[in-house]
This record gives sequence, structure tokens and C-alpha cells, in this order.
Amino acid sequence: MNISIIGTGYVGLVTGTCFAELGNHIICADNDKSKIDMLNKGGVPIYEPGLESLIKKNVAGGRLEFISDISNAVKASDVIFICVGTPSTDDGSADLSAIEHVSREIAKHINSYKLIVEKSTVPVETGEWVKKTINEFKKSSAEFDVASNPEFWREGSAIDDFMKPDRVVIGVDNKKSEEILKELYGPLDTKIVVTNIKGAEIIKHASNSFLATKISFINALSNICDKTGADINAVAEGIGLDSRINTHFLKAGVGFGGSCFPKDIKAFIYIAEKLGYPFGLLKEVDKINELQKKNVVKKLKDLIWNLKGKVIGVWGIAFKPDTDDIRSAPAIDIIKMLLEEGVKIKAFDPVAMDRAKSELGDKITYCKDIYEAAASSDCVIVMTEWNEFKEIDWKKVKESMHQPVIFDGRNIYNPAKLKELGFKYCGIGRR
Ligand code: UGA
Repeated sequence: MNISIIGTGYVGLVTGTCFAELGNHIICADNDKSKIDMLNKGGVPIYEPGLESLIKKNVAGGRLEFISDISNAVKASDVIFICVGTPSTDDGSADLSAIEHVSREIAKHINSYKLIVEKSTVPVETGEWVKKTINEFKKSSAEFDVASNPEFWREGSAIDDFMKPDRVVIGVDNKKSEEILKELYGPLDTKIVVTNIKGAEIIKHASNSFLATKISFINALSNICDKTGADINAVAEGIGLDSRINTHFLKAGVGFGGSCFPKDIKAFIYIAEKLGYPFGLLKEVDKINELQKKNVVKKLKDLIWNLKGKVIGVWGIAFKPDTDDIRSAPAIDIIKMLLEEGVKIKAFDPVAMDRAKSELGDKITYCKDIYEAAASSDCVIVMTEWNEFKEIDWKKVKESMHQPVIFDGRNIYNPAKLKELGFKYCGIGRR
């Protein structure tokens, strides 16, 4: 199929590249010319394992191209995926102005039948607005349909998640759209859930909200474990081995972050409220997540007393391992809270250092590895569970620290082992 992808951010690049890999002809369009120039020179503006080589392969195979002229992308395609950003605004609602802008551009240039697919995460009823906007601004008599096809990939494993999904969700309002999307996903061995457009829009927000609810549930429980001396990892295992609950997304930590959960929960709360249902459960999920970050500062005071003037080594800044993404990363919020307390921060992350520098500037010290970050510190806090943080030379760490204190914000270490080595240890819901 001839497919256009509007927006070459994370969602657009993965969508375009993977559909090219499935044998389609893809045009990725973005009005940010510098991004398109970079892509045309072989660069990739985001870090995602495997993406760069897959882009190269498909560009070389003539199945993938990048252009900055959206009108040509619209004209040359049968299916158009809208993959532009839908960031949070101050009241938590999603800013849909980029979706509106693209809808108008499509309306201006539509020259034959198109299936227009929302891929960006959008609140329920956005599809109707897209339809209305195109109808209002359309000059030609060409027909079109709108569909919703949310993505469920995780950063760091997006390509695998695309190629081997648990399910594909398509929201359509007629057979023709359903058949086009089914054909497109035909090569993937997976279940296709077909519903109407609003259903698909809700499935996306509901999936992320449910996963975030699991995390906040286990994080809330971690506080009960802290107070009683139970071990949250054992509690999570005991709960999760019930197959109705399952063990996924039951890892207690310093809170969830990233570009999706925090934003999508707020947007879902907002749209529910607007529809007349105050979604109290999700408000609590969000609140627990904020509290979990504040608790780190409180626990540090219990561990090393006054924070002012103390040096804290931070291991990990990215919101999770295998990504350089620091959007809504708990580490960033926690570092900012600690700076306000007068703490000196020495930080290291295997891939997110450049992004951290652009966010935090010269407010903290950037280190070349975990050992440098630990040296002369009064405490090391683990914010991201990078694999390379798991096997380390503890003797070297201990000797270089001012006080041997480890705050394990991702529960990756064995408390008994660290205590045996002479460290004071504090985890999340385990001591
Ligand atoms: C999330 C969803 O998992 C994807 O299905 C979805 O497609 C994506 O959002 C999106 O909407 O685009 P992602 O943001 O890449 O994916 O990250 P996750 O792996 O889900 O992790 C989110 C946050 O939850 C991270 O900060 C992680 O550390 C935290 N987390 C996750 C926990 O604290 N505990 C867990 O058990 C699992």
C-alpha cells in the first residue's frame, strides 16, 4: 500500500519504518525541515534499539522516504497515519492543535479516497473532530474515512512490540476501513480487535491507565511494607502469581514516568470529567505517583539526616532503562526537589546524559560512570534499573563514598548482601 505518515516523532518513525519493513511504500512527512534533513542524511532523531538499521534497510530498499512537503505526502497515499504530538496542557487536557492543523492540511490536498488513521494518543471523540474538520475544509469531492489505530509499544522495545503485538486494535465505522486496516496488519500473527472509533480511542487511554493503576497500587502497598517490615517484592510475587492478576507491572519503585502514563492519565481524567464522570480512581493513581517521588526526599532525611550541603550520587536519569528519554522521569523531579533542599548532585546515566544536561544545565555535576557519581557522596540513589548497575564493584563504591548509604529506588539489589558488605540500605517497601 502507499502510506503517508504525518509526523516523524517517536510514533511516526516506528510506524513508518515497520510498515515499510512489511513491504509497503511509506512517505514520512514532517514540517520540521531540520528533522527531515537529518533523516535524509542517515541520522535518527530518537534513540530506539534497532530503529536506525531498519530505517537504513528500508530507505535502501526504496520503501521509505522522508519529505517536508505534507501536500505531496497526502496526494501520493491511500492511507494516512496521523502521528503528531498531543502534549499535556496546564489543566491536564491534551493539546490537539497539531491534530487539527494536520486535518486541515489533509482537507486542503485530498485528491482521491483516503483512509485517515489516528495513531497519536487522543481523547475519545477526537475522530469526530477530525472528520468534521476535513469535511469543513475539503475543496475536492474526494471521499475519505477516519479510523483509530492506537499503538501499545513500549519505548526500548517498540519494534518488537510492533512486529509481535499482543493484539492490534482498530476503530472503524465501516467495512471498507476495516478491510484496509486488516490487510495492512495481515502479515502479523496476532488477534485484531475491531470496534468503533470511540471504543478504540478509549482502549488506548484505558490500557495506559490500567497499567499505571497497577504500578500505583504496588507503590501504595510498598508504603505499608515500609511501615511493617514486610518485603514488597515477596508481596508482589505472592499477588502476581495469581494468573488473574499476573506479575507484570507490579514492580514497586520511585514512580512511573515517560511521555505516556503521566500525560495520558491526566488527559483521561480531564475528558472523563468533561463527560460528567469524575474519575476519582485515576486521580488517586496520579496522586500516589507524585507522593512516591516526594517520599524519596523524606526517606533520605531518615537515612542521612540533614540534606543541606550533602552530596548525593544519582545512578540513572532516564524514566526507565534502554532509553535516553527523560520526559516526566522521576529522577528529574527528585533531583529538582533535592536541589531545593540544598543537596549537591553528582549524576550518571548510560545514555541520557545529553538530555539531562539540556534539562538541568549546570545545576548538577555530570559523571563519566557510576563510580565517579558515588565518589565522596553521602548516599547513592538508584533511579533507573539499568542492567549495567546490577553487577558492580561494591568494594570500590564503598571505599570512595563519604558514607556507605544506598537508596535503591528500583529494588534491584539484595538488601542482606549490601548490609553484609557494610552499607546502610533502604529500598522501596523493603529494608
Ligand atoms: C507505555 C505502555 O507500556 C505502552 O504500552 C504504550 O504504548 C506507551 O506507554 C505509549 O502510550 O506510547 P512506555 O512509556 O514506553 O510504555 O513505558 P513502560 O515500560 O510502560 O514504563 C512506564 C513507566 O512505568 C516507567 O517509568 C517504568 O519505570 C514504570 N514502571 C513500569 C514501574 O514503576 N513499575 C513497573 O512494574 C512497570
